[in-house]
Amino acid sequence: MTAPALRLTGTARVGGRVLFGPLDLAVPGGEWCCLLGPSGAGKSSLLHLLAGTSGAVTLDGSARAGDGAPLAGRVALMAQTDLLLPWLDLCDNIRIGARLRGTRPSRAQAEALLDRLGLAGMGARKPGALSGGQRQRVALARTLLEDRPVVLLDEPFSALDVATRLAVQDMAAHALRGRTVLHVTHDPAEAARLGDSILLLAGGQIRAVAPPPDAPPRAPDATATLSATGHLTRLLLEAA
Ligand SMILES: Nc1ncnc2c1ncn2[C@@H]1O[C@H](COP(=O)(O)OP(=O)(O)OP(=O)(O)O)[C@@H](O)[C@H]1O
Ligand SMILES: [Mg+2]
Repeated sequence: MTAPALRLTGTARVGGRVLFGPLDLAVPGGEWCCLLGPSGAGKSSLLHLLAGTSGAVTLDGSARAGDGAPLAGRVALMAQTDLLLPWLDLCDNIRIGARLRGTRPSRAQAEALLDRLGLAGMGARKPGALSGGQRQRVALARTLLEDRPVVLLDEPFSALDVATRLAVQDMAAHALRGRTVLHVTHDPAEAARLGDSILLLAGGQIRAVAPPPDAPPRAPDATATLSATGHLTRLLLEAA
């Protein structure tokens, strides 16, 4: 699977006011890019503009793939809210995107993903019987099963305890290797651990922040990871 680069240029508006821009955001094909920024900066809106689900937020510019082909049909978005359907069990929730497109992944595939995410044997449960962190992992499983070259993740690990978060980050990094990933997070340590590149959206503008030199996923307690975490924390405090 060849994963295209992502490019979003222009000015986003909502309700007649400028949300961000003019800016130029680029994610190289096959790389994992982390996007940080204060609450309300427009990070989720930016993902929705790329996914084509932006609703009230409009873009005077373009959101496109670097290869010139349409992005539609090549993007999976894990939204900030999990959107699990309460009347479907977990396996059917995970498979719903694929089924709507006419492919039929088996329950066994869904169960195997749940197993890898620490939710073994839970496929027949309903979302209402889960904790917040469990629901978040089901939403991630659904996104992974979409099997798209471009993956947009909106705070995908925010509800997980530290040990589960590190394990699920590793799993996702492995599962999505070679895809183009744009990952919104509030956690500087997560960006320092996972990003091939790191962007900060603040004051309507994008700036790039150098990631640690080694390949992700990085050890959370490595000196370079901790140093990048500290640097990003400082930048976020300045942007607040
Ligand atoms: N459909 C909408 N209608 C009106 N305003 C909207 C809509 N969607 C987003 N906004 C506004 O756009 C701004 C940016 O919202 P967005 O959800 O993109 O921020 P965010 O950076 O993802 O924040 P957070 O970190 O809290 O998730 C907010 O002020 C929000 O109220
Ligand atoms: Mg958001």
